[in-house]
Amino acid sequence: VNGKIVIPVVVNVLYRTAAENISDAQIQSQIDVLNQDYNATNPDFNSVPSEFAGVAANVGITFELVQVIRKSTNKTSWGTRDVMKNSKRGGIDPTSPETTLNMWACTIGGGILGYAQFPGGSSSTDGVVIDSNYFGVSGAASYPYNLGRTGSHEVGHWMNLRHIWGDASCGNDLVSDTPVHKTSNFGVPTYPYVSTCLPAHNEMTMNYMDYTDDRGMYMFTNGQKSRMSALFVSGGARSGFGI
Ligand code: ARG
Ligand code: ZN
Ligand code: CA
Repeated sequence: VNGKIVIPVVVNVLYRTAAENISDAQIQSQIDVLNQDYNATNPDFNSVPSEFAGVAANVGITFELVQVIRKSTNKTSWGTRDVMKNSKRGGIDPTSPETTLNMWACTIGGGILGYAQFPGGSSSTDGVVIDSNYFGVSGAASYPYNLGRTGSHEVGHWMNLRHIWGDASCGNDLVSDTPVHKTSNFGVPTYPYVSTCLPAHNEMTMNYMDYTDDRGMYMFTNGQKSRMSALFVSGGARSGFGI
């Protein structure tokens, strides 16, 4: 990738209650977190342990809010089957999904913080969904998921990143510079967190693609960066975004 990757973002807000109708400031706070986390300017980046400092990445992708679309609804929850992305079913259709990252803020339900579509899927459902309670920083967002990291994690999936534990016991996330993890980690594990996968090593619990609390995640790796960047070159699954 030669030039800068700039991702235009449209945020689609579906609300029944006033709390679900998150403010423009709340929305911008999520964009700001994405810009920090994907450019290694997050204030906690310096917490990366020295063991991992050599692989900690400045991904170099920026996000630009271009539009907020709001729609009132009488639905109390939207689930994880893309109903919120379909105007015929009461949702909001994505705007220019070949050239725009669409985000939906709504109540998902079932304790789900967010979910994303991987590259290569239907453009009619492309984008990421983040529950209104976890969209952006503080304000409407609730602890311990109040630092916008659900957005950073879900956009990682949208850019082809797998969970760091590979969704299997000591599984493979297809990235060589992330250590093998036994499973998902929660809370804020104390470093060093020794893996029970062999040979003995420490897990990178502070990676955005784990499941820790927001304050416990603050890095991507160079290998994750390569995987994401590959999407935007000519022939890549998201080449419409230009470079
Ligand atoms: N896909 C995960 C979920 O819905 C999101 C995890 C985000 N983690 C976080 N600390 N914000 O549960
Ligand atoms: Zn995930
Ligand atoms: Ca790995």
